Amino acid sequence: MTVEGIRVSRRWLSLREPADAAARATELVEEVTRYLPATGRRVIHDLGCGTGAMGRWLAPLLPGPQHWVVHDRDPDLLEVAAADLPAPAADGAAVSVEAMQTDITQLDPGKLADASLITASGLLDLLTEDELAGLVTVCVGAGCPALLTLTVVGRVYLTPADPLDRRLGAAFDAHQRRMTDRGRLLGPDAVAVAREEFSRLGAEVLGRPSPWRLGTSQAELAAEWLTGWVSAACEQEVELTAESDAYTRRRLAEARAGRLTVTVEHADLLVLP
Ligand SMILES: C[S@@+](CC[C@H](N)C(=O)[O-])C[C@H]1O[C@@H](n2cnc3c(N)ncnc32)[C@H](O)[C@@H]1O
Repeated sequence: MTVEGIRVSRRWLSLREPADAAARATELVEEVTRYLPATGRRVIHDLGCGTGAMGRWLAPLLPGPQHWVVHDRDPDLLEVAAADLPAPAADGAAVSVEAMQTDITQLDPGKLADASLITASGLLDLLTEDELAGLVTVCVGAGCPALLTLTVVGRVYLTPADPLDRRLGAAFDAHQRRMTDRGRLLGPDAVAVAREEFSRLGAEVLGRPSPWRLGTSQAELAAEWLTGWVSAACEQEVELTAESDAYTRRRLAEARAGRLTVTVEHADLLVLP
């Protein structure tokens, strides 16, 4: 993959950060804690870190001194991740951050040799099957737990329902599975493929749901998500465009009036070495 791959905007990441934090499965964090070294500094490699939201969510939930090495291919996002630091650890210990521009599909396993924990969030569905298999091999080779959160699973529910929801959802999923110059993206198949690959290498995988539930207090995120969802669906299936303008107007009016709720299902995986 090249650095010219699909770029994720800062605004989108900042808009979704509170919903992501509310969605991630905290019970897996309790499990992670049991596998961290009992003493000393924990080194956590966050892959595809974006602006560093994973560290801001997880570091204060974990005990002990932590050094976060945050990897992304996008230097603009890395700059934010290196500046907007996590709060101290659960017991008040120091948390430091080091930013590293990395294409995780070309990740040198040696870079993770010091890892006590590997994390990623919203990443697996953006990969192809070969890229995910490579990442799985690197994670298993590191011999530490890996917490891989917020992978889409292709289930979206809007209330009230609309006759066009199902077609848009199917077209959006197809868009997520689209062919690129790197191969076909996994989209909603990423969780099943990751489970299969980790199991094949003998790692234990625990899974938990981590849905976004967007109601009136997340109306801005819901509106932004909806606009992107419809636009990706129409890019995939251009015939939808004829009906999508009226649909989007209707849905945004419902969101503004506090009458739209959106559930976007995701899955969190914890891989145990
Ligand atoms: C949906 S965002 C999630 C960001 C962050 N983990 C979070 O939870 O807010 C996906 C991130 O993965 C990064 N990414 C995608 N493919 C990558 C690759 N091959 N190498 C490095 N970073 C990648 C993108 O630049 C983006 O920051």
